[in-house]
Amino acid sequence: MSMQVVIPAFGGVEVLEFHRVEPAEPPPGQVRVRLTSIGMNHADLMARRGHYKLSSGPTPFTPGLEGGGIVDRVGDGVTRWKVGDRVLLDVALPRLGGPRQPGGQLAGMEGTYRTHYFCDEDSCLPAPANLPDEQLGCVWLAYLTAWGCLVWKHGLDAGGTVTACFPAASSPVAMAGAQLLKALNPANVVIGLTRSPEKRQKLSECPEAPYDHLLVTRRDGEDEPWHREVRKITDGRGVDIFFDPVAAGSLLNSEIVSLAEHGTIYIYGLLGKPAAVDLTPLIRKHAAIRGWALSELTASGPEAYLPGCRTILDGLADGRFKIRMDRTFSLREARQAQAWMEQATHLGKLALIPDEQES
Ligand SMILES: NC(=O)c1ccc[n+]([C@@H]2O[C@H](COP(=O)([O-])OP(=O)(O)OC[C@H]3O[C@@H](n4cnc5c(N)ncnc54)[C@H](OP(=O)(O)O)[C@@H]3O)[C@@H](O)[C@H]2O)c1
Repeated sequence: MSMQVVIPAFGGVEVLEFHRVEPAEPPPGQVRVRLTSIGMNHADLMARRGHYKLSSGPTPFTPGLEGGGIVDRVGDGVTRWKVGDRVLLDVALPRLGGPRQPGGQLAGMEGTYRTHYFCDEDSCLPAPANLPDEQLGCVWLAYLTAWGCLVWKHGLDAGGTVTACFPAASSPVAMAGAQLLKALNPANVVIGLTRSPEKRQKLSECPEAPYDHLLVTRRDGEDEPWHREVRKITDGRGVDIFFDPVAAGSLLNSEIVSLAEHGTIYIYGLLGKPAAVDLTPLIRKHAAIRGWALSELTASGPEAYLPGCRTILDGLADGRFKIRMDRTFSLREARQAQAWMEQATHLGKLALIPDEQES
C-alpha cells in the first residue's frame, strides 16, 4: 500500500487526513518515484489554512512543493532511468496544474505529501551521490529561491563584491542565499538577522550558515537597533541587497535606513505584520523595493531554471552547499511536523520521510 496526505477542508493541523491507496503502475513514458524525502515549506502551512489558494487550488488537495527519492517502477519506453536510481523531482512539477496522480480525486494541487509520485521521465534530475536520501526533497525551494532572485534576476556573479543581509537567518532560504553568495565570491559580506539571542548563538555554531555577522532584531519583546551595527560593519556604506521574507513595518523601516546607494530590498514573503514605513530614504539613495517569487523563474521555463539547478547540484556534490536539517518526521506525523514548523523555533530544513510501513 502507499499513503497520501489529503486536506479536505482548510483549517488547522487537525484537518490533515491520511489516505491509504493501492500503488498503481506508471503509464508509458512515466516513472514512479518512492519518495524518501518531502521538503516542508512555510507555504504548506499557508496552503492548509487557505491563505495560498493560488498554489493549493480548492480542497481537497495534497500539499507539498518538493520531493525526491528512488525510482521504483518505470513505464514502457522509459530510457533515462532504471529502478533504483536516486532522483529529485523537477521544481516546476508538484504544483497546481502539475501531473494528476493515479487513483486520486483531488480538486486542487497534487503535492508531494505522499509515498509515491508519478511523473514523466524528463521531470526528474539525477541526485548527487553524496546527498543523503533524506535530503533529496529539500533542495529546490531553498536554493532556487535564492539563486533565482540573486543570480538570475539581480544578476550577481563572481565579479565584484556585495554586502547582503538575510532576515530569518535560520530559515533554509536564507542559509542557501548566504552559501550562494560566499560561493560566488568569498569577499562578499553576508549579514544574518534573527529574532532571538538563542538562535543567534546556535547559528554562530552552524557550518551551514556562513554569515560574517549575525545580528539580533528583537530582545525581551523589544526591537533592537540592529541598523546601528550594520552602519558600523559597513563603515557607513550600507547594505546592497536585503533578501527579506518578513517585511514587517519596523524591520522594513530599518532595512530602508540601512540600504546603500542604489541598494535593493527584495521581499519574498510576508511573515511579519504589515505597518507604515518611511520611504523617504529610498529617493535620496536611488534605491528600490522589489517583490520576488520563485514562480517567476519556473514560469520562464526549464531554459531559465535548469542552469540554476545545475549550479546547485554541482555545489551540493562538491560540498560548497550544505543543507542544514533541523528535524525529520515520518509521513504519518505530518500534523506534528506542521505544528512544529508553526512554532518557528527550528533552524534549517524540516522534512517528512515516509517509512517502510507507510510505503
Ligand atoms: N517568494 C517565494 O518564491 C518564496 C519561496 C520560499 C519561501 N517563501 C516565503 O518565505 C517565508 C519563509 O519560508 P520558509 O519555508 O523558509 O519558512 P521557515 O523555514 O518556516 O522559516 C521561517 C523563519 O522566519 C523567521 N521569522 C521572522 N519573523 C517571523 C514571523 N513573524 N513568523 C514566523 N517566522 C518568522 C524565523 O527565523 P528567525 O527566528 O531566524 O528570525 C523563522 O524561523 C514564507 O513566507 C514563505 O512563503 C517565498
